Amino acid sequence: MKSEFWSARRKSRLAVASSVTAAAVVAGLVVAGGSPAVAAAGCKVTYTVNQWDTGFTANVSVTNLGDAVSNWDVQWDFAGNQQVQQGWSATFSQSGKHVSAKNPSWGGALGSNATASFGFNGSYSGTNAIPTAFSLNGVNCDGGTTTTTTPTTPTTPTTPTTPTTPTTPTGPTTTPQPGTHVENPYAGSKGYVNPDWSAEVSAAAAAKGGTLGAQMAKVANTSTAVWLDRIAAIDGTSSARGLRGHLDAALSQASGGTPVTIQIVVYDLPNRDCAALASNGELKASENGLARYKSEYIDPIASILSDAKYAPLRIVAVVEPDSLPNLITNTSMATCAEAQSTGVYTQGIQYALNKLHAISNVYNYLDIAHSAWLGWDSNFGPFVNLVKQTLQGTTAGVNSIDGFISSTANYTPLTEPNLPDPNLTVGGQQLKSATFYQWNPYFAEVPFATAMYNAFVAAGLPSGIGMLVDTSRNGWGGSARPTGASGSTVDAYVNSGRIDRRLHRGNWCNQSGAGLGVRPTVAPAAHFDAYVWIKPPGESDGASSQIPNDEGKGADPMCDPTFHGSQQANGGNLTGALPNAPLSGKWFEAQFEELVQNAYPPVQ
Ligand code: BGC
Repeated sequence: MKSEFWSARRKSRLAVASSVTAAAVVAGLVVAGGSPAVAAAGCKVTYTVNQWDTGFTANVSVTNLGDAVSNWDVQWDFAGNQQVQQGWSATFSQSGKHVSAKNPSWGGALGSNATASFGFNGSYSGTNAIPTAFSLNGVNCDGGTTTTTTPTTPTTPTTPTTPTTPTTPTGPTTTPQPGTHVENPYAGSKGYVNPDWSAEVSAAAAAKGGTLGAQMAKVANTSTAVWLDRIAAIDGTSSARGLRGHLDAALSQASGGTPVTIQIVVYDLPNRDCAALASNGELKASENGLARYKSEYIDPIASILSDAKYAPLRIVAVVEPDSLPNLITNTSMATCAEAQSTGVYTQGIQYALNKLHAISNVYNYLDIAHSAWLGWDSNFGPFVNLVKQTLQGTTAGVNSIDGFISSTANYTPLTEPNLPDPNLTVGGQQLKSATFYQWNPYFAEVPFATAMYNAFVAAGLPSGIGMLVDTSRNGWGGSARPTGASGSTVDAYVNSGRIDRRLHRGNWCNQSGAGLGVRPTVAPAAHFDAYVWIKPPGESDGASSQIPNDEGKGADPMCDPTFHGSQQANGGNLTGALPNAPLSGKWFEAQFEELVQNAYPPVQ
């Protein structure tokens, strides 16, 4: 995996649709006293909570029952000691019990009867009582009763949220039959725990022992993806079971009628990882790679997945990370130029989508890189067009996918809690002009993926598509995590406040200081199907010296902590990689320990 930071383009940010449509949550209604008079301001709020022992996720929707506004500010008081920790789609501030959630820079306009949705992860102790009153721009949303559902309490936050409540907006209303294609494959299901990865984690935890070992052990039951990273992975190797082995194990993990969702990563295009070396693959465009990709890779996968025995499973396919993004930014490099001129990426993806979409219990999610790669409007817009053209070349057109995934195997945070507004001015400069952001208006994945969603829907894709974010390694906790931003220059302010502690956003290999991110979560925000763990934590991103292998993988200097990258790759900074890493995909003990220690939320 390569996560290419591309040269900054000093252009204004892409305009995106500003209204964020609320999910139709049934619970928690506070309705304004209903005078229909012209200037009447009013609002209704839904506030739903998913909670565990000490933490919770709240999803909030506000519907403006009054005149259109160009900015919104929703306020409430907590009843207890709740603390907002990490939010999305709003800018949060909390003083004591009082909370204000203001529109993000990309979503201020809220028309009459329009709804904005946002949410946050919070902490609490004792009882997590629901706020009883809300206001919108200072006007109380009063006149109704607040009732909020507290869904099934997961036993621990490290497990995927299991089964989601009937109030989940995207969830099915009746029990789907095996093979049925549901709206959100994560809703109401249990995430597959890969026994091979889980065993590695458990063994490492037992060998480590002590407090850290105990924390490591708690991660072992998390759902992670299965990477089909070469033809041999389909049948399995001496160290990892094959696709049928995983599907059989997934069937055996079902219990009590709750379906299992298993995630596979389809990752073997010819000229794979064309802008880097660490994850180069076995197939080459110049060596009949596309034909082999179809017949030796996609066809066998599709044939196994169509086995009726696996119809009860929900199979999420993450399709070809980094490939289309490389065609947007890296065709100055020979291997990428060849991928483009031969059409192997687009045709390979079209073939994969056609074969996989034809299987009703398979869900296709296409990779959209991450905010630090495609965030500039000069990359963002062309990428949306390329995706649309690629989809139009498939049999089912724009319906051949179920959604998109951002930050696969990357380290970019969901939000930058101390830098919520890229347009904030410090010392006369906007935050996005800081050296770290290079005029990229997207600092984090929630605003980026939300903007991508809006752009895709505006381009004609179905509004039912859902976004995923790989949160396996974007936690950035530990003692280096800043709790605020300060400074009189824009660089000082950004560097003091950003939770992304990378030396440069273009760094992508085995990042020092990173931590496990938010555990897999179902429907965390409007238009997001889930936060997922695709890159299995503890598996290396790549090695800096040549290690013999039969997978096509090379030595990548971006994995060498003493190497300064190029201006284009990472502004000439050091790589920030941990030393002595094994080949990409292999177990990297030192990295796993650091990820657990720097987890955010912490592993408890
Ligand atoms: C590697 C794959 C590996 C995957 C998950 C990728 O970077 O190239 O071989 O399966 O990461 O660890």
